[in-house]
Parts: sequence; structure tokens; C-alpha cells
Amino acid sequence: MPGKPARPRRYLMCEPRHFDVAYAINPWMDPAGTVDRELARAQWATLVDAYRTHGHTVETIEPVPGLPDMVFAANSALVHGGRVLGARFRAPQRQPETDVYEVWYKAAGYAVREPDEVCEGEGDLVPVGGRVLAGTGFRTSPGAHEEVREHFGLPVVTLPLIDPHFYHLDTALFALDDGTPGDIAYYPGAFTQEARNTLARLFPDALLATRQDALAFGLNSVSDGRHVFVAPQATGLVGRLAERGYVPVPVDLSEIHKAGGGIKCCTQELRP
Ligand code: ARG
Repeated sequence: MPGKPARPRRYLMCEPRHFDVAYAINPWMDPAGTVDRELARAQWATLVDAYRTHGHTVETIEPVPGLPDMVFAANSALVHGGRVLGARFRAPQRQPETDVYEVWYKAAGYAVREPDEVCEGEGDLVPVGGRVLAGTGFRTSPGAHEEVREHFGLPVVTLPLIDPHFYHLDTALFALDDGTPGDIAYYPGAFTQEARNTLARLFPDALLATRQDALAFGLNSVSDGRHVFVAPQATGLVGRLAERGYVPVPVDLSEIHKAGGGIKCCTQELRP
């Protein structure tokens, strides 16, 4: 069937072998609740299988006991054009992840620049259309956006977030097609009015998602340009992706949602 072309991707992922909700650093996390770690592992394995079945390469990093959020590989860096800008986490509980991921990137042959300001990798940095869309307000600081601009030599568009449920840019926006001009989906209510105006100007044809789909982690999706790996709970979005010519591939990470992340959070893209 003709339609949108997929581009094979390389992803870095971390098995939720030590996954837990042991502290609360976003509104989704309830340390008093229960977590079924075996279910989380099984759901995560389904995502790995889905990527491989669709022709993508998945690399893995060894999880470390005591770092329950390490499953969220997308917070570890931005990788683009062979360059890596590592992470500096806002929450002390996650700060030890920086060195663990840095060891992996170095062993994989990358030079890693350590950011001076809080920077949570692809959680807040979304490359699309030759620019980097950059979230701020809860985690990544605006100073880190400057570091991105300088390190990658790409224009950076600062987008302030206002709703604590959507504390990372990748919970409210994702690239459907990361080429040029690019195609994105987002939930406007997560952004300041000014950021909404900017997005409307840059992406007049974007798919605008509902709060319901955003709360179902529908915007924490991964697209290869054709297939969209998406939370099945985001029923409205799934239908609209198909209307737009994309192929939704539903993958349920409900157990991992308890820590405030979904498909995209678990997936660090290793861009060429
Ligand atoms: N518990 C993690 C945190 O609050 C979840 C991170 C989700 N990752 C993401 N890319 N949005 O830091």
C-alpha cells in the first residue's frame, strides 16, 4: 500500500528490571500505589518487539538497581549528527543516571558534552524540520536551550509548558514526520498562549489532540514517518492518525504510565 515512507531508526532502551515508583517527581507518581514490575517488563518487551518487527534497531543499556526511572532512556541525551548532549536532571533522585548513560554513549563511540544547565534530553527536546523544539517550565531550563543551539548548530524554538501533568515536552507533542517541513501532533492546552501561537505559525497543519488523548499518553508516541507506536488508550488520536495516512501500532505501557511516562519516554533515538 503506498502512503507515507518509513525511515529505519536506531533506538536505545533500558529494560525496567528495577522499575518502581519510589518517589514522586511528577503528578502521575504515587509512591503509596502498587507497581507490577513483571507486567512492566512484559509491556516493555512488547515495545522492543514492535520496533524490531517494523525494521528498527534496538540497542539496550544495562539497568542499575536503585535507579527506577532509568527505563526512561529518552531523558538521557539528545543525539543528533553524531553529537551527544547528555543530561543534567532536575530531581536529585535521577541525577546518578547521567554518568551511567554517559558510559554507554562513550562506549558506543560518541563524544558526550555535559550540559551546564538542567537538561532532560529528548524529554524536552524534539528535533523536527531542521530545528529543535524545546520545552521548559518544569524540567529543562531555558539556558540549556542555548547549549543545544550552540552544540548542534540548529535553531531552537523555546516552548514554555504550563500544566504539571505535561511536565516534559514529549508528553504533549511528538514528531509524526521529523523531516522538512515536518509534521507534528500536540495538545495546545499544555502550552502558554505564546507557545501555541508559535506552533500554529510553524506547523499550520499539525494534528491537534484532545486533553483526553494527552492524558492517555497519546502524545508520548514514536513515529518512523509511517508507523506510529502509540498508546491504545488514546482512542481518538489513534483514529485520527489513520485518517492522516499514518499506520498506528498500538503498544500498551499502562504499568509504566504510573511513573509518568510512556512509549516515547522509553525510547532514545540515536540519530545519524
Ligand atoms: N518519572 C520520570 C520523571 O518524572 C518520568 C520521565 C518520563 N520521561 C519522559 N521522556 N517524559 O522524570
